[in-house]
Amino acid sequence: MPASSDFALSRRGLIVGSAASVALTTAPSIVSAQAAAAGGPAMSTISVTVNGKIHHLDLDTRTTLLDALREHLHLTGTKKGCDHGQCGACTVIVEGRRINSCLTLAVMHDGDSVTTIEGLGTPGTPHPMQAAFVKHDGYQCGYCTPGQICSAVAVLEEIEDGVPSHVTADLMARPRLTEAELRERMSGNICRCGAYSNIVEAITEAAGREA
Ligand code: FES
Ligand code: FES
Repeated sequence: MPASSDFALSRRGLIVGSAASVALTTAPSIVSAQAAAAGGPAMSTISVTVNGKIHHLDLDTRTTLLDALREHLHLTGTKKGCDHGQCGACTVIVEGRRINSCLTLAVMHDGDSVTTIEGLGTPGTPHPMQAAFVKHDGYQCGYCTPGQICSAVAVLEEIEDGVPSHVTADLMARPRLTEAELRERMSGNICRCGAYSNIVEAITEAAGREA
């Protein structure tokens, strides 16, 4: 049995040791909180090519790609609908693939190439997909339209590349450009005006098929 003084010493040592452990485990969060308070938000410099032009941006690391495009580069063709990945209004093409720009941080795209609706065509020289949307009234208010068009351009590439969708029956065969395929692949782009039939007609025409 230890003497009572030994026990008291051991107990005090344990308490001191535990307190030191707690201090060590909590120290990083205290330090990072103090650093954040002292230094403000973490910033980062990225280089991104947008519509063929390289930009060097100093950004708060929390900035989404959508906000970088709209607020920093003033490319407001890309729309913010839900800001939660639910509507598709913010769709842009990054490195050849369509993404929701509200769901990705700009700093994740250092060195990437981004195409927005402004980079597809101009009113004088529209992209074939833009011209087809105009011809087939593929919109009413137009708010979802930039995202719809960027998505539609990428959809045709996906079909051309043989990427299957949920409704592709034969995964070993090249997907066919059917209405079911187009509606499934465009299902992430919501149109509150309900222009879906006209959108399918426009994409079908842009693909060089009979609407
Ligand atoms: Fe990005 Fe709605 S704004 S999905
Ligand atoms: Fe109005 Fe699609 S055209 S939301």
